[in-house]
Amino acid sequence: MIQIVSQQTKSEEVLFYKEEDERLKELSEGVLKVFKGSYLQTIFIVDQNAMKLLVGMGVPDQDKLHVKELCAKAVKELKAKEIQEFSMDIEPIIKEHGVEAIRDIVEGAVLGTYEQRNFEEKKEEKKEFSIELYGISEEQKMEAKRYLTETLAVVEGVCFARDMVNLPGNKLRPKDFAKEIVEFVKDTAIKTEMIEADKLKEMGMQALFGVGDSSDYPPCLMVLRYYGDPSSDKVTGLIGKGVTCDTGGYCLKPAASMLGIKGDMAGGAAVSGAIYALAKNQIKTNAVAVIPMCENRISSGSLLPGDVIGSYAGKTIEIGDTDAEGRLILADAVSYAVRNEKVTELLDIATLTGAVVAMLGFSIAGAICDNDLFFNKFHHAYEISGERYWRLPFYEEHKKMIESKIADVRNMSNNGCGTITAGLFIRAFAEEKPWLHLDIAGTAWVDSPIFEFQSVGATGAGVTSIYQLCCEGE
Ligand code: BES
Ligand code: ZN
Ligand code: ZN
Repeated sequence: MIQIVSQQTKSEEVLFYKEEDERLKELSEGVLKVFKGSYLQTIFIVDQNAMKLLVGMGVPDQDKLHVKELCAKAVKELKAKEIQEFSMDIEPIIKEHGVEAIRDIVEGAVLGTYEQRNFEEKKEEKKEFSIELYGISEEQKMEAKRYLTETLAVVEGVCFARDMVNLPGNKLRPKDFAKEIVEFVKDTAIKTEMIEADKLKEMGMQALFGVGDSSDYPPCLMVLRYYGDPSSDKVTGLIGKGVTCDTGGYCLKPAASMLGIKGDMAGGAAVSGAIYALAKNQIKTNAVAVIPMCENRISSGSLLPGDVIGSYAGKTIEIGDTDAEGRLILADAVSYAVRNEKVTELLDIATLTGAVVAMLGFSIAGAICDNDLFFNKFHHAYEISGERYWRLPFYEEHKKMIESKIADVRNMSNNGCGTITAGLFIRAFAEEKPWLHLDIAGTAWVDSPIFEFQSVGATGAGVTSIYQLCCEGE
């Protein structure tokens, strides 16, 4: 529980200090010898039988990501000492970043304590934290409380996305994923529909069915509808890749890279988390999430390199590589969203290419967009969320790279540019709607956390930025 209060009531507390902070002088000489307020420096002191945690903010700067890190760091330190109830004087943060920083404070504090679901026989009960934030002026309190409530819902979405991505493949088959989502959004205004394998086949979803039929655990298509603004025709389609296990199929992945195969539904998890937060916060907007779910395995029903399949849109696809399955299932999901859900703009998000990891690493995701206005909105959104994206270019020559001699399009480039061409493959199904593509193959998962608010495993990438994008007006 996190609350905003007028003054400190808990005996344990967190205090933030900038480098060369005037308030540092109030500390004892002994403490000052080691604690300089440098960024993320921490020290516990005992003051009248209560523990105080001092956290260094470093030199002033404008990167709000730092606020998230500071709060995550503080909470982790307290957790390590098994202190679950404490106050936090956030005045120095609000002074520097304004009352909006409540978002980052809350996100950091919650994510700092995130723990994976645990399958041990004797699992420990999760400990509840009780955190009081103080140091906000009376005039700003109302606004601060609004940010608090809003952010708590968003962070719930982030934690849900992390939970899903962290689940082992054998605990999350395509239909389990669908059921988890239905359960997660059940108390919101979101209407859910799960289209099962037989129906997918009947509808002609040859791309989704083509990949998903490789497994005994059948594919499905999850649709989540949130109409928070019935007076508007605008509907944002949020399409998220939901491959619950990606072995590569006949183009089998090497053993070493198989460990990551369970996280291949991070895009689907991200759109679920985001639409949940939209509904929970009753945001005035319309969004429909479409999540194609399946496994990519080896069986007699699996696709083979060189195969030609159809798709929901009617286009034929030549299979260059069975490991490029994400774009296939997303193609059908995108067509479904355009044709059946009347979406007016499209965002797709996926752990799509190894190439984006090689290019941008684990802290920056790739973005491709064919509409500057749409991208500017997204840019503004991820400035608020603090996530990092980098827009990649595309030209006619890139479209040529996925041309096929025997089909309308090919699922692999014949000339490099793996991230751009993967995106353009999906765009070929967007039917001219403004389209934004996010490749989170690098950012959805961290083996060695980069930021304090991350822990080993899933990051929940995309949830906050998609949420903010949908909050933006016309
Ligand atoms: N899910 C993978 C992409 C991926 C790679 C995610 C690394 C997370 C970490 C995707 O389905 C895939 O295998 N893509 C291939 C495409 C290629 C065969 C054209 C890739 O990037 O190697
Ligand atoms: Zn793959
Ligand atoms: Zn994949």
